[in-house]
Amino acid sequence: MSDRSRELSGEGPAETGDGALGVRLVEPGADETERAAESALRPKRLRDFVGQQVVRNQLSIVLESARARGRAPDHVLLSGPPGLGKTTLSMIIAAELGTHLRITSGPAIQHAGDLAAVLTSLEEGDVLFVDEVHRIARPAEELLYVAMEDFRVDVVVGKGPGATAIPLDLPPFTLVGATTRAGLLPAPLRDRFGFTAHLDFYSTAELQQVLHRSAALLGVALTSEGATEVARRSRGTPRIANRLLRRVRDWSLVRGSGATGGGVVVDEASARAALEVYEVDPLGLDRIDRAVLRALCRTFGGGPVGLSTLAVAVGEEAETVETVVEPFLVREGMIGRTPRGRVATDAAWRHLGLEPPLTRPGGLPGQLELGEPGSGRSPEQLPRSADDLSDGR
Ligand SMILES: Nc1ncnc2c1ncn2[C@@H]1O[C@H](COP(=O)(O)OP(=O)(O)O)[C@@H](O)[C@H]1O
Ligand SMILES: [Mg+2]
Repeated sequence: MSDRSRELSGEGPAETGDGALGVRLVEPGADETERAAESALRPKRLRDFVGQQVVRNQLSIVLESARARGRAPDHVLLSGPPGLGKTTLSMIIAAELGTHLRITSGPAIQHAGDLAAVLTSLEEGDVLFVDEVHRIARPAEELLYVAMEDFRVDVVVGKGPGATAIPLDLPPFTLVGATTRAGLLPAPLRDRFGFTAHLDFYSTAELQQVLHRSAALLGVALTSEGATEVARRSRGTPRIANRLLRRVRDWSLVRGSGATGGGVVVDEASARAALEVYEVDPLGLDRIDRAVLRALCRTFGGGPVGLSTLAVAVGEEAETVETVVEPFLVREGMIGRTPRGRVATDAAWRHLGLEPPLTRPGGLPGQLELGEPGSGRSPEQLPRSADDLSDGR
């Protein structure tokens, strides 16, 4: 990051900042301290960016064409869950174009004036990265539309009926917007991006590649079994993979090979031992994930149980369970969301080392008629009150 970028980087809060749980090792967002550790591991050029084949290919064409034409490329929208490489790609775009990168974020733009200040300081060909672009304040949106489309800002001078708008031309620039919630972008904003890339979760093989690259940068000897072991627990997310690698590195340094005077080696055994200490299990579930599954299976007999009841059972806010814990469990097919509440799938029971109830037809969530003969459920396993069902979104 150049100094010019740094001074503009009114970095907003971490993407999924949440105090309630404390710091989770499997949290896909990053805090301030982690950003420093991450910047050392960020690929600088497109060829070093692992995976996302389709996006990489499309983006390389957009960038090469822009270079060939000697013009700033169309505005780029990067969407996808936290930790998959949106910020990294924005830096790569500027690097590939050989231009300056200016960084700001939606939450830092609360007034039209904030945005006007950033825009009027741009130089020709600059890349302006707006993280969490869906969080730009309404009054600034209009200004952004005009800037993106006509490379102009209207600076309003004065107030009331006597106010006049003085148009100011902007040099051509490229806006790179990142969002975890593409669905929240107003259509006029979405339409002004000429190229939209959606980042998907990474395969285990791709994460292994990320890990080998990071291990080399960290000076850690990573075996391929060690890489597999860490990759499998990384929830498809490079940020989590890099974080787990750093924790296993720590373990190897002070409890593993490093402790006996050797170099720091991350192999299958050290990865397993370290991640057991940090309570990240073989599927990448941590303590809170397992607590939710246990409550669902053991306390509520597999559900259906309402979200707020489930949350109380694990001592968390309903919102935390819904937004921070559940998405991964749903993605992994362990929890189902039904109109009557949350249900555990067979995979959830088995993951806890429990036998799924035999009588559930196919173990499919939501297929079960409550209290009917053969549902295999005793009355105390049924939801306790109508209230429990009412929030079963
Ligand atoms: N495709 C990739 N190849 C290598 N490392 C990656 C890749 N995607 C992400 N990373 C690493 O993961 C971390 C998080 O990436 P980042 O770009 O900050 O994610 P996002 O902005 O989408 O939350 C960074 O340390 C980055 O180096
Ligand atoms: Mg980011």
